[in-house]
Amino acid sequence: MDRLLTGLQPSGALTIGNYAGGISQVVNYQKDYETFLFVPDMHAITVPQDPEALHKNIINAIALYIACGVDPNLPDMHIYIQSENPYHANLSWIFECHTPHGDLTRMHQFKAKSALHESFTEGLVTYPVLMAADILLYDPKYVPTGIDQKQHVELARNLAIRFNNRYGELFRLPEPLIPTVGAKIRDLQNPEQKMSKSTDNPKASVFLSDTEKQIRKKIMSAVTDSEAVIKFDEANKPGVSNLLTIYSVFADTTVEDAVAKFEGGGYGDLKKATADAVVSKVIPFQDKYNEVINSGIIDDILNEGRDYSIKIAQAKYEQVRRAVGFGRI
Ligand code: TYM
Repeated sequence: MDRLLTGLQPSGALTIGNYAGGISQVVNYQKDYETFLFVPDMHAITVPQDPEALHKNIINAIALYIACGVDPNLPDMHIYIQSENPYHANLSWIFECHTPHGDLTRMHQFKAKSALHESFTEGLVTYPVLMAADILLYDPKYVPTGIDQKQHVELARNLAIRFNNRYGELFRLPEPLIPTVGAKIRDLQNPEQKMSKSTDNPKASVFLSDTEKQIRKKIMSAVTDSEAVIKFDEANKPGVSNLLTIYSVFADTTVEDAVAKFEGGGYGDLKKATADAVVSKVIPFQDKYNEVINSGIIDDILNEGRDYSIKIAQAKYEQVRRAVGFGRI
């Protein structure tokens, strides 16, 4: 059975963008693949974290995956915490020693994130290398993500090619799995940018933990344009195109059908229908989330995921260790 692997950082509440690019894809494909779904807590500390909050966010993220429809009872579903498996960091070091510094400082996300801070840690630079280790340890066929992570998956693929050429066949080449709708949900107030967990503008992002009232208010005040024409044109009408995208993701339809439904109408109608669609999915997730958090099942799920992921990752790491010449013959 081919494998699918992805992770979502536990740095605060998850957004509807994380749902569209990450979680919903896992839910859609979980029956067809052996799935490795993990919480990259080691990635989270590339920017400062409060330790207590990080612990809580990790467990909250797991509960949310399940609340959104990830089925932990599927025999081939493995859910784990990155830092509970030591092989991610071990392989990451080997990869760091095979990655030109310039390849990392050229990454889009590094440029964007480092520009936000006067100083930043080396972890922010080497972050995609750790991500490559997360992926390549498990030989997945696909890595479901939004468009913002595509370049990182490509780095993993290039590392795999470099290693296979130099040391013999070690890694399967992973492919990013980018959704056809919702690969980049945009910021509601500044639709030139992607919607992000870490935003200063309280109206910019819809979180999966928002109340119905907050969701409606944020979507009704989304920035559009003054043309008063509903069409999908991301370059010239990013705000309206974003609403059409969000509607399509949450109403389970295509952008073409959404355009057909709303064209000729006003922006108010599109916003209202988009808010209805988001509310009708997200509020039931929250009920389920409370059930999961209080059920006591999370530890068992994480223990299984930790043990299984260590088994797979250790075998791969041993091959790599030998290939690069570590230790005794
Ligand atoms: P993270 O935590 O920033 O995002 C988690 C997932 O959500 C997607 N995403 C979006 N999709 C559509 N629209 C948006 N506005 C939006 N914002 C985020 C992301 O593309 C991602 O799929 N480095 C990764 C975490 C990671 C990982 C991995 C992922 C660590 N190791 C290995 C896959 C494989 C990250 O920071 O994602």
